[in-house]
Amino acid sequence: MEIKTLPAYQISTGKVAKLPEGLINQIAAGEVVERPASVVKELLENALDAGATEITVEAEGAGQHKIKVTDNGSGIPAEDVPIILERHATSKLKSAEELEQIATLGFRGEAIPSIASVSYFELETKIKNERIGTRLLAEGGKILKVEPAGTAGGTQVTVERLFFNTPARKKFQKSAVSENRQMTALLEQYAFAFPEIGFELVLDGKKILKTPGQNLFERVSELVGEERYWDLELLESKKENSQLIAFLKKPEKITAARPQLYFFINRRPVQSKLLHHAATSAYRDFLEHGRSPYALIYLFLPYTEVDVNVHPAKAEVRFANERAVYDWTYHAIRKALSNRGQVPVWSSAAPNPLNTGSSPALYPEQGRGIAGGTSSPNSSMPDLSYQQKVFPFQHPAGVGSPGETMPTPSYPSPIFWQFADVYILAQVKGKLLLIDQHTAHERVLYEKILKSLGEHRAESQELLFPETLELSPSEFQAFSENQNFFEVFGFDISPFGDRTLLIRGTPPLAQKKNPAKLLREILDDLETDKKDLEPAKIVARSLACHSAMRAGEKLTIAEMENLFDLLFAAENPYNCPHGRPTIIELPLSEIHRRFGRPV
Ligand SMILES: Nc1ncnc2c1ncn2[C@@H]1O[C@H](COP(=O)(O)OP(=O)(O)OP(=O)(O)O)[C@@H](O)[C@H]1O
Ligand SMILES: [Mg+2]
Repeated sequence: MEIKTLPAYQISTGKVAKLPEGLINQIAAGEVVERPASVVKELLENALDAGATEITVEAEGAGQHKIKVTDNGSGIPAEDVPIILERHATSKLKSAEELEQIATLGFRGEAIPSIASVSYFELETKIKNERIGTRLLAEGGKILKVEPAGTAGGTQVTVERLFFNTPARKKFQKSAVSENRQMTALLEQYAFAFPEIGFELVLDGKKILKTPGQNLFERVSELVGEERYWDLELLESKKENSQLIAFLKKPEKITAARPQLYFFINRRPVQSKLLHHAATSAYRDFLEHGRSPYALIYLFLPYTEVDVNVHPAKAEVRFANERAVYDWTYHAIRKALSNRGQVPVWSSAAPNPLNTGSSPALYPEQGRGIAGGTSSPNSSMPDLSYQQKVFPFQHPAGVGSPGETMPTPSYPSPIFWQFADVYILAQVKGKLLLIDQHTAHERVLYEKILKSLGEHRAESQELLFPETLELSPSEFQAFSENQNFFEVFGFDISPFGDRTLLIRGTPPLAQKKNPAKLLREILDDLETDKKDLEPAKIVARSLACHSAMRAGEKLTIAEMENLFDLLFAAENPYNCPHGRPTIIELPLSEIHRRFGRPV
């Protein structure tokens, strides 16, 4: 029998020699700077570490012609500027102990030398209160010039002709579309991680993203879109020195087959197989087959429990106690997904998540990192007081807080009061409930409409004067496709000429509404929501929304009481059919707290 041998491993031997510095940097650059987006990532991180509050990223030609990152951070002292092109030159790490508890995004002093070694590199920087700044020019890592320069406070780095001297790397670059997408995704991730920072992204002169400093809820709402924001469930869990905040897409709102999971560990955006597994497993029982989770997960752990020095591009971290982190995340997500449907609780820090007006209390006075000075290199914990300003807990769609500690006095049956002609205030068992009269009524009507469908065909209220309605071709199409639903819901409509409808009757619920207007609104909703929901539910939702009492309508005590009873008899009293909250609870303990009473 013929024995096959493996080809010999080729070993080239020769004299051992130290590589020249330029080549070392280029090799290191291979790890750190894989593509234009990696340059953007490193420069962004430097700006954040420098305590910047405004950061602009501009790129041309998918980042291969030019990348420019401008920040208003601390700036670099003139005497330090020439040193930053040297490898392992960093202001962020001084001793081995500090490596155990890194609070900044950068720590190796590798990024700038790596980037500069494969590009034409320019840096302009000025310390805020100095008059004159410094400008450095380099080509392929060699310094051409360092000179005084008149420049704004902060730092601006320009990287041109990336990979000009490493043709092999240049050849492996992805398409412009994919690179631009990558840079946009990157900016988005940092924007999620640093809500208090204003970011701007400009690609080939086109503004792709611009966002002012906000609180976390405003930022998430802005990035995911106001409407989809309401599809998120807030999870907040605390342990002694650690904290977990997550925005979990409600399982019934998920249609995507691929998971979209974002992890921020001590605010650093990272990938994590461990957390990915924890999140997908936690979601499993709640999702239909073929659907995958969407979640933003923020973990704050003592710095000593996170090793950030495990990946060349700092894209992964390792946890000192992987099992504990896994279990915590898994159980917290499962609990949040199964505990839904509680009355959201009003909390001291709860801002209106959709209010973009800035409130000073929600703004940190300082940035993070060395220059920001909030997390001193000696502290082993992320600064939780700082987090609370940027990451105030609770949003109206959030899960409730643990039970009351104050004794609950007994009260007679609910007392109702209407506030601002919009909210019903009810005192129930020592709790103060705020009920939105429109969303609450919407919920009641929605369930009533759906239930009546199951039982029999809805009645129709005959109009005294039948109305005609002329539709656009697409509206007419939407009507024809769904004509039977309209009948089932109690409309009496027939085509009358080409694109005109004759309305003879409407559902009794809608008798106060202008029939033509109502029909057009429902057709509109059918067009816009057809991807998300089956037509019967869209019509029911739309009918409920348009028939429900409005904000601004004055209610009698009896009407309020009736609505209250109907709401609490509903299957899901806590949200309107669009997912907005119907009730918020203001706990007695919170009121006591505000008046400085011991709770
Ligand atoms: N935008 C900036 N503003 C202020 N200082 C900066 C800025 N960019 C770089 N520096 C200074 O230059 C040093 C070198 O930056 P570089 O990115 O190479 O290393 P690092 O951030 O310390 O570590 P890492 O390689 O992990 O990113 C930093 O430590 C910092 O002192
Ligand atoms: Mg850096």
